[in-house]
Amino acid sequence: MSAFALERRGGVAIVSFDTPNEPVNKISKAVGWELEELLGRLILDEPVKAIVLRSGKRDTFIAGADIEEFVQLRSVEEAVRLSRDGQLLMQKFADSPKPIVVAIHGACLGGGLELALACQYRVASDHPKTQLGLPETQLGLLPGAGGSNRLPRLIGLRAALDIILAGKSERAKKALKIGLVDEVVPEAILLETAIAAAERLARGWRAPRPGRGVAGVLLDHNPIGRTVVFRKAEATVLQKTGGHYPAPLRALEVIRTSLDRGMKRGLEAEAQAFGELAMTDVSRRLVEIFFATTALKKDDGVPSGSGRPRVVRRLAVIGSGFMGAGIAGTAVLNADVEVRMKDADLARVGKGLKAATDILRARMRRRRLTTYEFTRKSALLSGTGDFSGFAGAEIAIEAVFEELSVKRQVMAELEAAVPTDMVLATNTSTIPIHDIAVGARHPERILGMHFFSPVEKMPLLEVIPTSMTSADAIVTAVQFGRAMGKTVIVVGDAPGFWVNRILSPYLNEAGFLLEEGVPIEVIDKAMTDWGFPVGPIALLDEVGLDVGEKAGKVMHQAFGDRLAPSKVIAVMRGDDRLGRKNGRGFYFYKDGHKTGPDGSIFQLLGVRPAGEVDVARVQERLIYAMLNESAMAMSEGVVRQPRDGDIGAIFGIGFPPFRGGPLRTLDAFGAAETVAKLERLEAAHGHRFRVAPVLEEMARTGGRWYPADGR
Ligand code: 3HC
Repeated sequence: MSAFALERRGGVAIVSFDTPNEPVNKISKAVGWELEELLGRLILDEPVKAIVLRSGKRDTFIAGADIEEFVQLRSVEEAVRLSRDGQLLMQKFADSPKPIVVAIHGACLGGGLELALACQYRVASDHPKTQLGLPETQLGLLPGAGGSNRLPRLIGLRAALDIILAGKSERAKKALKIGLVDEVVPEAILLETAIAAAERLARGWRAPRPGRGVAGVLLDHNPIGRTVVFRKAEATVLQKTGGHYPAPLRALEVIRTSLDRGMKRGLEAEAQAFGELAMTDVSRRLVEIFFATTALKKDDGVPSGSGRPRVVRRLAVIGSGFMGAGIAGTAVLNADVEVRMKDADLARVGKGLKAATDILRARMRRRRLTTYEFTRKSALLSGTGDFSGFAGAEIAIEAVFEELSVKRQVMAELEAAVPTDMVLATNTSTIPIHDIAVGARHPERILGMHFFSPVEKMPLLEVIPTSMTSADAIVTAVQFGRAMGKTVIVVGDAPGFWVNRILSPYLNEAGFLLEEGVPIEVIDKAMTDWGFPVGPIALLDEVGLDVGEKAGKVMHQAFGDRLAPSKVIAVMRGDDRLGRKNGRGFYFYKDGHKTGPDGSIFQLLGVRPAGEVDVARVQERLIYAMLNESAMAMSEGVVRQPRDGDIGAIFGIGFPPFRGGPLRTLDAFGAAETVAKLERLEAAHGHRFRVAPVLEEMARTGGRWYPADGR
């Protein structure tokens, strides 16, 4: 069945792209051949004077090249060829003697945007779903169908680098501003506008191009200015990626070649770089992450069809502190539901409502929300000092103080006040949900929803059913979490669940290193060099030492001496240090900004900071503590499959994406090598490094977490 339908309006041929039985349009090899053949026919078709290309899909224009095909690539040469084929296809569009106008509604990404760039005129709908971008670097690649060459020529060097290096997308309005599209119109008149433009172009009209401005002339079009831009961009890339991601650096090289030596050389460099990047482990890991997150969008955490989700229109939130307000604001922002917030007194409720509204306001300031949408969404928030207005909600999330007795009491009050079919979720980071649900009248509707802080920014949500939770409740919570914009993993009801479980020995180990006098900045830099966004000590300051202390105790109690916390946090707490929140932590803070490490911890501990430190040893201890715990938790079934564990670690604690997550890392290190390393660590540092039995087993049998080849 063809992916393209043809319709004629006078001299304009309207091509609708709609791949049968696929949710989005992708430019696969087969689609490319068909498109090329169709274009050839239209060029020879005398009555056709111009062409309009649109999508037949509801909310995507074209999602890019077919990423599935990248997974099949086996050599650099093969990948170079794929890129060359893409470039040649786009060139046919660019060389068309008949003008081609693209009518863009929905996602126009990667190869989709490269196709649009090769056409003569671009009209986009002003719908929020319309996003134009080149996300290739996020897959460890670069735009390989001419985009690295065409974008800087169309919108200027600096604007192009901004998009390509970060792999980001722009909405239609911004796309118009930077000259990426020629017109933006409401969706209702998109096609008509594109046809009118096609007719004008066919009559010889030339689209006006925006001027470049003084900075454009000096920096984008002048070799000396360009050198400055490239140098600055390279420094920024290195600072942001720590040199772990080769794609943005290769993209810089290609763009430079293209602008300095011409498009022909530029295209050759582009295909070569694409081919080499496609074969890197980094790209493989990032592509796997794309497929894992996509698969999670469809995974409700129960066998397919076994749970009936409740459609959530109203959310009740108990507790209007930092977490409660974050949950409320994010729910209104992304899920567009009414939120009723309750706390013990109205003054606190007022504060919570303000904090939730501030989340919306921040979006409006960043132009991600219109004033109208801000006002409308703000009106969805309301508060109460009792349970009034709760009965209409489909789901309630409590986010009160992290104390079992308090949480139990809140659940009991909730159960007494709301209808029996409402799903009741508790937001906790460590307390087993079973302990909260036990004794409830309807434990089948109780589960955990572990949000990460700050809720509006952190992408992960752990949903934690107990053995008593119904499938209906699980599906409702998972789907609602997704509507809130979260990547959701369903995890076992074990202390710390997944993320805090694997984090716990890692943070403890950082404490032991401090006890030995290893300087704060050495520990943190060791881990940022390894690829984490922040080091473990800085993370403790962010999380809060009170929270860390409480979590440490729960884990110690649950897992015994193996997870006994270092004494560092208790010492810090004894000196009234809470981390960033009270401006007193392992680091100094000024006006909320971290200024530098506070070495006085060593006086408190009574140790002398070490002079020479072997950084590789520091990395080893921290990493293997986390990897070993990941293996242990996996073998206990805390997550259902390695995919969830890796995505949880990447999205929950910033485990370096280019390494693919702790379980992928274990596979890369190899079970036998990992066991040998852990045995050495155990001999040196004690039984907290005792090898997870599952790893010993894997070392014996040559086992892995993932199949050796494939996903
Ligand atoms: N290739 C292969 N499959 C793709 C795809 C692509 N480019 N884009 C989406 N899909 C698949 C998904 O895997 C999923 O498949 P499934 O139903 O079998 O699980 C299905 O399409 C639907 O995708 P989503 O669930 O993600 O749908 P959403 O509506 O939530 O999001 C989207 C749509 C915004 C287009 C999102 O899918 C997306 O961001 N896609 C990837 C975009 C991208 O990275 N493009 C660049 C590709 S690389 C490239 O073009 C190289 C070129 O320069 C040569």
